[in-house]
Amino acid sequence: MKRPVFAANWKLNHGPQEARAFLQRFSGLVAPRADRTFVFFPPAISLAVTGFALRERPEILVGVQNIHWEDKGAFTGENSAPIARDAGAKIVLVGHSERRQLFGETDEMTSKKVAAAYRAGLTAMLCVGERLEERERNTTQAVVVRQVKAGISRLEPSQLASIAIAYEPVWAIGTGRTAKPEDATAVHSAIRRTLKEALGSKATEIPILYGGTVNAENVAELLASPEVDGVLVGGASLDADGWARIVQT
Ligand code: 13P
Repeated sequence: MKRPVFAANWKLNHGPQEARAFLQRFSGLVAPRADRTFVFFPPAISLAVTGFALRERPEILVGVQNIHWEDKGAFTGENSAPIARDAGAKIVLVGHSERRQLFGETDEMTSKKVAAAYRAGLTAMLCVGERLEERERNTTQAVVVRQVKAGISRLEPSQLASIAIAYEPVWAIGTGRTAKPEDATAVHSAIRRTLKEALGSKATEIPILYGGTVNAENVAELLASPEVDGVLVGGASLDADGWARIVQT
């Protein structure tokens, strides 16, 4: 069995001081474990503090929530993959639905951002997921497959092998609603088929995470699906004690 991945997306929460306090508390509660992978996506301004707070915990991955696709230049307010790497990031979240919905990110942009991550020596966690009206129109799998194909379109197979995918149905994010394990399983299977078309049998190694109102009550049931390789969590990852309990499920 693959090691389940527990990824915390703090979104626009936890500045440097809160991040430091969180990680001191979390590290005291959760010992290193060979049977699972932990990832934190703090706000970019808290990245360096997060890396420093976890300096004794090199097994914990730290990443940024977004990058620009250019490496540098006159792009006021943006962060790039080389700068994120310099500040300690190992991984980049790309195409989160909040980026797509609130900031107009397109499939084309996600593909350029994924490529930029790999150019800088980082890996990517590509987020995909359908909106409620797309689910109601029975186009969930078509939407998600399109997003996956676009997002990975600029990668060589050797790069693709180290990507992670997060399936996050938009209607389940921060809403208290979550996909039923069987619904998540069906979409994860479609994603896996798409990855296999691009990469062959090696695609079985790519972690496919579920996200959308994951919490202490539903995490075990979601992870029980053989197609769910981990979870990407927003709200329930913001409290150190609560998150420590979830990652030790
Ligand atoms: P919630 O866990 O708050 O629903 O957020 C999910 C998410 O968007 C993680 O990236």
